[in-house]
Amino acid sequence: MAMQKLHPDDTASLYEAVARYAKYGCDAERPLHPSRNAEQLRAAFAVDLSKSGRPPLDVIHDLIAAAEPGLVGSTREGFLAWVIGGSHPAGIAADWLTALWGQNAGIYQASPAAAVAEEAVERWLLDLLGLPASASIGLVTGATMAGFVCLAAARNEVLRRVGYDLPQHGLARAPKTTVFLGAEAHSTIFAALRYLGFGEANFRRIPADRNGRLDTARLESAMKGADGPAIVIAQAGHINTGAFDSLSEIADIAHRHGAWLHIDGAFGLWARTVPELSHLVHGAELADSWSVDGHKWLQVPYDCGFAIVADRDAHRRAMDITAGYLPSESTDGRNPNHFGPELSRRARGFAVWAVLQTLGRDGITNMVRAHCSTARDLASELSALPEARIEHDVVLNQVTASFGLAEDDQTGRDRLTQRVCDELNATNRYFLKTADWRNHTVLRFSLSGAQLDSQSVKDLVREIKTAIDRCRAVHVSDGRSKRSFSDTWPLPLPAHVAF
Ligand SMILES: Cc1ncc(COP(=O)(O)O)c(C=O)c1O
Repeated sequence: MAMQKLHPDDTASLYEAVARYAKYGCDAERPLHPSRNAEQLRAAFAVDLSKSGRPPLDVIHDLIAAAEPGLVGSTREGFLAWVIGGSHPAGIAADWLTALWGQNAGIYQASPAAAVAEEAVERWLLDLLGLPASASIGLVTGATMAGFVCLAAARNEVLRRVGYDLPQHGLARAPKTTVFLGAEAHSTIFAALRYLGFGEANFRRIPADRNGRLDTARLESAMKGADGPAIVIAQAGHINTGAFDSLSEIADIAHRHGAWLHIDGAFGLWARTVPELSHLVHGAELADSWSVDGHKWLQVPYDCGFAIVADRDAHRRAMDITAGYLPSESTDGRNPNHFGPELSRRARGFAVWAVLQTLGRDGITNMVRAHCSTARDLASELSALPEARIEHDVVLNQVTASFGLAEDDQTGRDRLTQRVCDELNATNRYFLKTADWRNHTVLRFSLSGAQLDSQSVKDLVREIKTAIDRCRAVHVSDGRSKRSFSDTWPLPLPAHVAF
């Protein structure tokens, strides 16, 4: 039986219902924490698949009812757990349009508008980030894939420079490539390298300092003793500390040794838009490739990342997909699939275009500046608590702390840090997570989505103080807080969302 066509009125009421729901979603305070556990969520989602289909309005109603209790309020002010952006409404609206238009952004011919929007954002992004105007950008799902694309270009290119044709001969007989990277490079960089056929035998992990910055002198000496194709990976924005490797020195070392330099700047590269942070990112423009996220600090809705490669041809050679039915060249505009790993994909450029235009140059600068200034305020207020220890120099938007009483050993510190986190989460005003860093428990505050004002920072620190005092007063034998947020909020579907 052919797929049933929806009557235009039914389609319209479906979209209107979602728009009414969106209004509710924006107006109301979505709880920060899910109120149902995985089993409860499964009971709502894992129902029998309908045999002959159901009216879409009913299905969308059920989808909202099933999903709401399992959503995280990641766009709200108290969400500080990870570097997750706030999905700017302009980006959300553009993303809706993207779905509505149903464009396939693979090739120019399939959607000239999608292809040209990507050309436009390529130019804006290179300009904003102060990178070579001749570089190319592939719009991908996030920084993990951006790293993958850039490192694919790097791998092909360093092998090509020693006369090895990777597309022809494959990896099996390839000369060994050495990848020099900081011991505290982001886990997704290691993942991207593994997808590309590299393993531990290829890695030279360069020790990092207390802020997680790669030790440049150790890089220099490691590279002196190595020969063959080489890739160096530097980091702009450490996930716990926000620290930056010494980019210009590393660029100098990498290029003196004929290596390709990649910079993982998932969120940190946005420091390039703030003049007073320029010392952190000085020399970033000298790299051969950069991976940056759109969906973190830039506030583009998920999923969006930028794979930026200085040598456009190297980028294309690494990503080329050819087939008789796909025009390899378009005289009108670029084919997006030349710069990313997918053929058919959503038209990511529209949301980026809308967010960049809405924020504007000054808006981006001010947002990054404000998050960094809040991070500094938070660190300074926290430092006044005798039990708090800030684990690093605060240079960007990340503040990582641990908590302990004078008499606490490391286990005691770890336990108190965890309890502070649990207590804050139990207020339902914060969403925080601890992490294991250098064998101890830390609490990370990431300022990258909603902006906290100075009163909110004071409230947060007061709440931390209260949590510490409560933990001092009450000994919880299993080391975890007994308070729980989980049953404070089963959300009823809003009555005014008329389906
Ligand atoms: C430094 C760094 N690189 C890469 C990534 C991976 O980015 P994504 O989650 O967008 O794939 C992250 C994510 O937090 C990051 O902080």
